[in-house]
Amino acid sequence: MKLNKLTTEYTKNELALQDLSSNPIDQFEKWMQSAIDFPLENANAMTLSTSDKNHKVTSRIVLLKTYDKNGFVFFTNYNSSKAKAIKYNNQVSLSFAYLPQERQIIITGKAIKIPTPQSLKYFLSRPRGARIGAWSSQQSQVISSRSVLLSQVEKIKNKFANKEIPLPDFWGGFRVVPYEIEFWQGRKNRLHDRFIYKFKNKEWQCKRKSP
Ligand SMILES: Cc1cc2nc3c(=O)[nH]c(=O)nc-3n(C[C@H](O)[C@H](O)[C@H](O)COP(=O)(O)O)c2cc1C
Repeated sequence: MKLNKLTTEYTKNELALQDLSSNPIDQFEKWMQSAIDFPLENANAMTLSTSDKNHKVTSRIVLLKTYDKNGFVFFTNYNSSKAKAIKYNNQVSLSFAYLPQERQIIITGKAIKIPTPQSLKYFLSRPRGARIGAWSSQQSQVISSRSVLLSQVEKIKNKFANKEIPLPDFWGGFRVVPYEIEFWQGRKNRLHDRFIYKFKNKEWQCKRKSP
């Protein structure tokens, strides 16, 4: 396979300091909206990277469900590998690859559990099947076959037959409170535009970085 032939010149867009919002959350909103309008599928899919107690780094995709000036929220199983890693080291990275737009966003921050009432509100908004799925999966554990999972689903269905499916105590959201957010726009000859916002002295400062 000749992967070295798979080169692309990035020429679709450019980014200058004067185009950027003074607040990176507003800038994030602009790029998220532009990705949705493009249209890009799964514009809210982001790669979450964590480092665990043995310094083992793992990346996986999760879905961004809400964001505001306080941070970026995703939902997961609190007993999963990612949640265990966060418990030990809450420093995480989130990245969005908007490749058809030749864009990348990288967020660095600290992950904290959101309050249970907020997780409950989101959980109850999910379809019944997804709520049963959350109860049924011991996320990240090794299982011997798919039938183990499916029999668990049946047990949960019976347990909550004709009842509301409650929020499992092992499931909820994390908010990633950012302290750095980088916007990357591909340019010709690999002379890309990169701008990094850093939160210092209670305000965001934005600087250009070398590609
Ligand atoms: C498009 C996509 C969206 C996903 N969204 C989520 C999500 O929102 N929450 C989640 O826990 N896992 C999500 N996953 C599954 C994770 O990538 C991962 O397999 C799972 O969370 C277990 O990760 P862990 O064992 O490292 O904790 C998603 C996977 C893909 C490909």
